Order: sequence, then structure tokens, then C-alpha cells
Amino acid sequence: MNQLTITKPDDWHLHLRDGAMLAGVLPHTSAHFSRAIIMPNLVPPVVTTAQAEVYRQRIMASLPKGHDFTPLMTLYLTEATDAGDVEAGFRDGLVKAVKLYPAGATTNSHAGVRDIDKVTPVLERMAEIGLPLCVHGEVTNPEIDIFDREAVFIETVLDPLRRRIPGLRVVMEHVTTRNGVDYVRAQERDMAATITVHHLMINRNAILAGGIRPHYYCLPVAKREEHRLALRAAATSGDQRFFLGTDSAPHTDPLKESACGCAGIFTAPNAVSCLAHVFEEEDALDRLEAFASLNGPAFYRLPPNEGRITLKRQDAPVAFPDKIDTGEGSVTVFDPMVPLHWSVTPDIS
Ligand code: NCD
Ligand code: ZN
Repeated sequence: MNQLTITKPDDWHLHLRDGAMLAGVLPHTSAHFSRAIIMPNLVPPVVTTAQAEVYRQRIMASLPKGHDFTPLMTLYLTEATDAGDVEAGFRDGLVKAVKLYPAGATTNSHAGVRDIDKVTPVLERMAEIGLPLCVHGEVTNPEIDIFDREAVFIETVLDPLRRRIPGLRVVMEHVTTRNGVDYVRAQERDMAATITVHHLMINRNAILAGGIRPHYYCLPVAKREEHRLALRAAATSGDQRFFLGTDSAPHTDPLKESACGCAGIFTAPNAVSCLAHVFEEEDALDRLEAFASLNGPAFYRLPPNEGRITLKRQDAPVAFPDKIDTGEGSVTVFDPMVPLHWSVTPDIS
């Protein structure tokens, strides 16, 4: 197969940041994606419906002319979140999910949740109204090895939470382990997971073998090869519970190339091309549309996009920039370490 036209994709987990960085990175997403779930981990975080609305307006003001893109807004869950405000934002159609960051788990998560019992009333309200909870699924206990933090989160936080609040609709964000995939597969309802492009392409050797490579460092950190293979199997299976969330997370180069570098990989420019590469390798191009464009809207109870994109396989590798310039500084683009042959064109109709 050398050409494929599919429903325009959505990105169910995206960091756009704010200000000059937002203006620099947004066009790379809005060129290929119709909608994205916008992560709320700004400084300060997007906690209230009013903050989400002004952030949405700043995103729309940064959108290049001619790009058709809808940001799907989320609220950052804190121990002080007001269930009434969450419900009002949902009823308004503005708030599409609430994000749980265990405090200290990742970039700008210190305002997150320390004691999950404190947010039970908000989670119960979300279960009642059907508003999804997106979870960063890692424990933060310093005694737990960083490579085990997802598996321990599932056992000690996620599963007990789902039992305590039946009907709560949960997305396990950026799942990185076989344990995560198996857990999601075992749930009959109200459970889904996003998978990033980079976790389908790299294992932990990319970060650590032959030198330390900060541009491959993200959270949850890439795991062993067996986990990457489990993620590939899940993504290409067509199973409705798995869909694309790139977790494209820009940081400027000095913040990455540092003695204590930030977590996050910027994949927006080549995400769809990488995905086509993975699905071709797995002989599953016929299931790419389900993963990138259909399963996500089904979980979020939204219609699939009307627009389409065409993927074309070309002999010469497609050129992507190594870095993009933003008003805040340069940001390195994910290097998949293999040539990419799939180009992406939005259909003009
Ligand atoms: C994200 C970021 O930079 O905001 N970083 C990352 O490594 N994925 C936060 C997150 O999603 O964990
Ligand atoms: Zn993220």
C-alpha cells in the first residue's frame, strides 16, 4: 500500500504551553490534527473553568489562518478543586476531561494530588455526569524504582480507585508497560488508554545506551523492549480502548540538555509520519484510522472528524526539521532514528 486516506486524526494528549512557545508549536499540531486534549500543566496550572476558557481563547488566537483546529480543554485536579465548577464547565461544553497528576510525578505537577481521598467528591461527581478522568499513572514514592512506577500505580491507586468509584470513566494516559496494556484490556467498561508515538518507537536503550540522550527522556520513561512490543500490539490491534495521545511536550534545548534535564519529547511535526511507519512495520495500515481517528472520539463521545488526510509513501525519506525555532528558543524534534517515508497532506475539499 502506497497511499492511504483516513479520517483526520485527533491527539488525545498534548502539551501546547503558552505565550511564545504556544505560538511556535501549535501550527505543527494544527497542520495534521483536527482536535486535541490540551494538558493543563501550565505555570500556574489551569485549575478552574474560567482559566480553561481564557487559555482556550489564547490557543485560538495563536492558530495560523486557514488551520481548522479545536482545542478540547481539561482542568488540572487539585485537592481544592470545586465539583460544582467542574460540572459547570462540563455542562457548558468547555471541559472535556479532568487531569489527575499525582503531586511530583512529572513536569509542573507539584500542585497535583497528594491524598486521593481528598478528591473523592469531585471524582464521584465526574462519574455521575460521565466526565472522563485522565490520569498520569505513576506513583511518586521515592522508594519505588522509576521503571516500576506505572505498574505499582495500577495496583495501588488505579484499581482501588475504579473499584471505589464505579462508573468513573478513566483514561490511563501515555501507557508504557505490558502491565498497563493488560490492565486496560481486562476492563470491560469505562477504561481506555492513550499511547504515544515515541513509546511505540523507542525503548530505554535510546535514552541510555552509548551515551545519555536527553531528547529521549520523558515521563513515564520508556521501558524495556518487551513493553514497547506490548504497546505496538495494543495500538495496532484495533481494540477501541487504545488511541493516540502524542504527549508532544516541548521544552527548549537548554532545559533538555542540562545536568537535570526536563522530561518531555516534542513529536508534533512528525507524529503522523512516525505512526504510519509503525503501522506499516506491523502490517496494520488498515487499523491506523481506528487508532488515530476513531477510537478516541468514541471514548470521548464525540463524532469523528469530517476532514481527511492522505498519507503517501515516497521512496526518498521525508525531511523534517531537527529543531524548530520558537520565541522562547529552539526545540528539538523527535528523531525516530529511522528514515520516515510517509508524507501527510490534509485533504482540501
Ligand atoms: C510532560 C510535560 O513536559 O509537560 N512531560 C513528559 O515527559 N511527558 C508532562 C507529562 O505528560 O508527564
Ligand atoms: Zn503529557
